[in-house]
Amino acid sequence: VPHLTTSWLGKPYYYFPQIGSTNDEALHLAAQGAPHGTVAVAEEQTQGRGRLKRPWLSAPRSGIYLSILLRTPLPVREASQSNLVAALALVKTLRKEYDIPAAIKWPNDVLIHGKKTAGILTEMQSDQDYTRFLVVGIGMNVNYKKEQLEASFRYPGTSLAIERGRPIKRQELLLSFLQAFETEHDRFVKRGFESLVPALEQYSAILGKAVKVHTAREEISGKVSGFNSDGALKLLTDAGKEEVIWVGDVMQVEG
Ligand code: BTN
Repeated sequence: VPHLTTSWLGKPYYYFPQIGSTNDEALHLAAQGAPHGTVAVAEEQTQGRGRLKRPWLSAPRSGIYLSILLRTPLPVREASQSNLVAALALVKTLRKEYDIPAAIKWPNDVLIHGKKTAGILTEMQSDQDYTRFLVVGIGMNVNYKKEQLEASFRYPGTSLAIERGRPIKRQELLLSFLQAFETEHDRFVKRGFESLVPALEQYSAILGKAVKVHTAREEISGKVSGFNSDGALKLLTDAGKEEVIWVGDVMQVEG
């Protein structure tokens, strides 16, 4: 029987056969004083939330839906950095344990062969004493069948089972992922975010590619030249300028 190998992550660990949203549950647990590293996992979500107010398909036994509460006293940009920690942990797990060529689409998608297979939604809130905490929500399409995804996703999505040709044991994947997240997060806290940047570039789905980036203010076209030491996207724009982008949505222009 696989078991939890982490030292602080998933302690405590809440399991729900069905819930509205594990992110909402984790925010609620946080408000009641739950500690750093608390994890909420559900078999099924009835109100799964994605980014940009999109619903997140959360059918029973088909995916992994989990949220991690982080109480690290770090600056505000840590929200996007924790997103990347989760993406990196997942990509490393899929590559190492399952030989699946997963890649990170900055800032919060995991792709396989260019198709989305996991998404991350990090939310920040404050306690009454104004200490900030983060809830990192991760949704993975594990054993979804093609028809299930086609019926619901706007983005052309895929699942691990589709890409691998056979189903994956969700409990094993979840436990490996939690161990990987703890390892990457410990590295982040101890050695700084810049220690993750080489791996982020190595496993990037967009490095060197022509993209369009939507930010709150504008749409910029260019080529991804890398990530800075804080995890921001570096873009060489079509006008020949280096732009550093902290928050944005990336659309790929060419394959
Ligand atoms: C996205 O790509 O839009 C982010 C999707 C995040 C989905 C996960 S599933 C677990 C957690 N609970 C939610 O309601 N959302 C996140």
